[in-house]
Amino acid sequence: MASFLPAASMFSLLPLLLLLLSATYAAARPACNADDKKALLAVKSYFRDPEILADWTADADCCAWDRIQCDDDSGRIVYVSIDGSPTLSGSLPEAISDLPFLRVLYIADLPLLTGPIPQFLTRLRRLNNLILRNTSLSGPIPAFLSQITTLKLLDLSHNTFTGSIPPDLSLLCGLGDLLLSNNRLTGEIPASFGSFRIASPPQLDLSNNLLSGEIPAELGRPEWGYIDLSNNRRLEGDASVLFGAAKGTTRMNLSGNRFRFDLSRVSFPTGLGFLYLSRNEINGSIPAQINQLEHLTVLNLSDNKLCGEIPQGPVTGKFGKEAYQGNSCLCGLPLGPCPQSG
Ligand SMILES: *[C@@H]1O[C@H](CO)[C@@H](O)[C@H](O)[C@H]1NC(C)=O
Ligand SMILES: *[C@@H]1O[C@H](CO)[C@@H](O)[C@H](O)[C@H]1NC(C)=O
Ligand SMILES: *[C@@H]1O[C@H](CO)[C@@H](O)[C@H](O)[C@H]1NC(C)=O
Ligand SMILES: *[C@@H]1O[C@H](CO)[C@@H](O)[C@H](O)[C@H]1NC(C)=O
Repeated sequence: MASFLPAASMFSLLPLLLLLLSATYAAARPACNADDKKALLAVKSYFRDPEILADWTADADCCAWDRIQCDDDSGRIVYVSIDGSPTLSGSLPEAISDLPFLRVLYIADLPLLTGPIPQFLTRLRRLNNLILRNTSLSGPIPAFLSQITTLKLLDLSHNTFTGSIPPDLSLLCGLGDLLLSNNRLTGEIPASFGSFRIASPPQLDLSNNLLSGEIPAELGRPEWGYIDLSNNRRLEGDASVLFGAAKGTTRMNLSGNRFRFDLSRVSFPTGLGFLYLSRNEINGSIPAQINQLEHLTVLNLSDNKLCGEIPQGPVTGKFGKEAYQGNSCLCGLPLGPCPQSG
């Protein structure tokens, strides 16, 4: 049909064509879903219109709001972040659970957010990442979180959660990252944590809590991408179970506990990059195999009960005195010379 038109009128049609084109393009992503928008406006009004949610307004497409992402095909909200406000106060509003397509809920750095973890979060049946970090949320870590079976990452660090860790969290068979550090959790580490069933190396951070009791042998089963049990002060037992895997675990921090085992009997995972064992009751001597750990860049064995000569080599030589000091009778470079035997 365009071929019937003189060139001049073709030219004048161009703006119209462009308009049509851009309309088609916009239609590629449906407008924000009305129910999702209603839920978020309820969240905003619950928090009494805080500054950080200023652009969440009824007349705008909610997929274009700050702190929101929509799925390109369905237009449903899949990501919400509410973070970094020193004044936003209240507890978690129920309306946040009226986002059935939500995959990531990121709530962080809100010092005036209080109250417990509410059960209505289990209505988020597609949630992959639940981050409730650095707030004043408190109370126990509820076992009902294991009902959100789609969870891959659970980050509840830097809050004031109390009570023990529910063993049921290990039922989350897609869970890869469990970050519970810097709370006031008590009791023992559940033995069930040895049965995370995920493919990629899991990360477990239980540091800076008040956990106690023996480390369960089952914890030696997974190959951890990262395991941090540091600074619980009263965790004890034979933590050498964690060194079982041949390649396995790459980053380990067990500092500041009462772990007690003979280091000379350990065979380190060859992929180890980061080994922090300071402030425990580890005895024996440093195995020569440590010099085969070509990826090791962080080492701290200080303040233990180690003895004997530091095996000299390319790996032990990378670290200064601070990595070895405060032991019973370690000797050799970079510490002082060993006493002459005989
Ligand atoms: C927690 O949030 C406050 C701001 O509210 C920030 O100053 C502080 O650095 C945050 N702490 C952590 C551990 O992220
Ligand atoms: C290991 O944990 C201790 C105590 O929590 C901490 O001081 C240290 O920085 C950690 N080490 C590394 C390398 O993260
Ligand atoms: C290390 O301590 C354990 C007890 O925790 C003890 O059985 C073992 O003999 C000690 N090993 C050495 C080399 O001192
Ligand atoms: C190792 O840990 C001790 C605490 O036991 C700390 O004083 C020292 O600075 C740490 N060294 C390194 C190199 O991180």
